[in-house]
Amino acid sequence: MIKQAIIPLAGLGTRLLPLTSVFPKELLPINGKPGLEYILDECKEAGIKEIIFVISNKKKLIRKYFYNDKFFKTIIKNKKDSRIKKEYKKILSFKNKIKFVYQNKPLGTGDAVLKVRKLIKSSHFLMLFPDDLILKKNCSRDMISIHKRNNCSVMASIKVKKQDISRWGIYSIKKQINKKNFIIKDVIEKPSISDAPSNNAVIGRYILPKEIFLKLKKQKKGIGGEIHITDAIRDLINNNHKFIGHNFAGKYLDCGTMSGYIKSSLEISKL
Ligand code: G1P
Repeated sequence: MIKQAIIPLAGLGTRLLPLTSVFPKELLPINGKPGLEYILDECKEAGIKEIIFVISNKKKLIRKYFYNDKFFKTIIKNKKDSRIKKEYKKILSFKNKIKFVYQNKPLGTGDAVLKVRKLIKSSHFLMLFPDDLILKKNCSRDMISIHKRNNCSVMASIKVKKQDISRWGIYSIKKQINKKNFIIKDVIEKPSISDAPSNNAVIGRYILPKEIFLKLKKQKKGIGGEIHITDAIRDLINNNHKFIGHNFAGKYLDCGTMSGYIKSSLEISKL
């Protein structure tokens, strides 16, 4: 059973500068609520019981957002405002599920995942990237059922435009299972257009096996000088580990770039 999720939150957020020079991108409001709360809602609805945040000392505001009890208690006592009470209750319900792990050097997603290895209890866990919002249909829940049915690892995916290929991890297909699910043959992190095996891009939802930690321990830096989760996944696939690419049904919003972030509030307000 998948009951644990990891959310890497230690990235520098350079694509959203200058907003992120003093403020964690994951707390930036999207249509009136922090982007991170959409991700937490998705986890909760998917039955996740423990969420591990990988943060850094520079992003301690994220911890503060969930540990500001004294402030809330005083305001609630003085103001008797039911909206604030409700919001605080929601924050508390998340807080009880969250654990914090630190990654103080931004060495990449692979390194972030390696930091949680001692906390993972079962054979597989979920990972969500907070830049990638998927709304209207719970992608994590759907991926968990695919995992249960096939007893394998899963990555969310979409088809992207050829000119955008080098922004993503791109995978090739070994076998089509049905319209929405594919057995993955190979995956490459941010290839050039000429090196890309397809236009199937990996989106930030992964169900990963514990074995990934062994690969990550030995993982060398990849493109851009970072340790990428994609390279460790590639290694697992080459060792006959089954990964399914799942073309999810929900509405995807890429909040990790400035133009995507700006568009996301407009898009959500229309839903
Ligand atoms: C990361 C992954 C990439 C994936 C993307 C999805 O890239 O490395 O493989 O396609 O997330 O959002 P990043 O957004 O950290 O550059």
